[in-house]
Amino acid sequence: MFTKFELSSEQKKIIKEIKKLKKERDAVIIVHNYQRPEIQEIGDILGDSLALSRAAAKTQQRVIVFCGVHFMAESAAILCPDKTVLLPELEAGCPMAEMVTAKKLHEFKKKYPGAKVVCYVNSSAEVKAASDICCTSSNATKVVQSIKDTNEIIFIPDKNLAHYTSSFTEKKIIPWNGCCPTHHRLKPEDVLKAKEAHPNATVIAHPECTPSVLALVDYVLSTEGMVRYSKETKAKEIIVCTEVGMLYRLKKENPNKNFYSPLEEMICPNMKLNTLESVLNSLEKMEHVVTVPADVREKAKRALDKMLEII
Ligand code: 13P
Ligand code: SF4
Repeated sequence: MFTKFELSSEQKKIIKEIKKLKKERDAVIIVHNYQRPEIQEIGDILGDSLALSRAAAKTQQRVIVFCGVHFMAESAAILCPDKTVLLPELEAGCPMAEMVTAKKLHEFKKKYPGAKVVCYVNSSAEVKAASDICCTSSNATKVVQSIKDTNEIIFIPDKNLAHYTSSFTEKKIIPWNGCCPTHHRLKPEDVLKAKEAHPNATVIAHPECTPSVLALVDYVLSTEGMVRYSKETKAKEIIVCTEVGMLYRLKKENPNKNFYSPLEEMICPNMKLNTLESVLNSLEKMEHVVTVPADVREKAKRALDKMLEII
């Protein structure tokens, strides 16, 4: 269960320096819901992949410090070519995004010449550029339904989100064989144990969990969907089947409710790479700048824009 988090005096000192430098650099700090508590504390904008893409597209500041993983910063760079996008830790990648390459996708597309490609934003710019439209965990069904000229959809790279989406559409979903290693760790037994320990709790899960886990839960939601649900529900106890970083924000915004993780090891090591020190370093040295070559950017932007238009 998530209980309490307090900033140390050293952390408070670094946060002060970050705030000062942020002003001088004309920067905004955009933070994903899985980031460490202290990183969430410095976020100007906090959210899921969709909310953060929208926020990046609208930002007024000259510099975007993206506290998340590489594909998220890359999406910001695609949507805002006139801004400087910084990723504090260059090694913060997403293993699922690396499970598909543009080359492999081109080969795969040859097998299904009539199909359209829906690409989960957890993917590289090159892969987005080779796709028809992007989606996130909060809009995948709407995106699939927006495609009118074919019934065949190649869905990359998450087979679990593909499977979940397929239950809401008549279209034929052809999944890519990718998944999130963090969400794959959660087994049905873990959920059943958590339900037994907290019989009055409702259970929410991210669609990156396996179908056998999703079959046991009450609601399937994106991370921002979890934030909304937790605020609105009358339930006082909630089992949260996703990366454990999520529980900090849920508890902070709902201090009178209890949140439980069914598996404390559900930690995305990449999301945890960003630290206060690396954010400060990033602003000091203006690194690591994330850029996308113009030809790739244009095509990838088309796929992202199409998604942002329909929702
Ligand atoms: P959300 O868009 O729901 O925040 O998910 C992003 C992600 O990487 C989940 O593992
Ligand atoms: Fe990628 Fe999974 Fe980490 Fe999300 S939690 S960034 S999908 S590895």
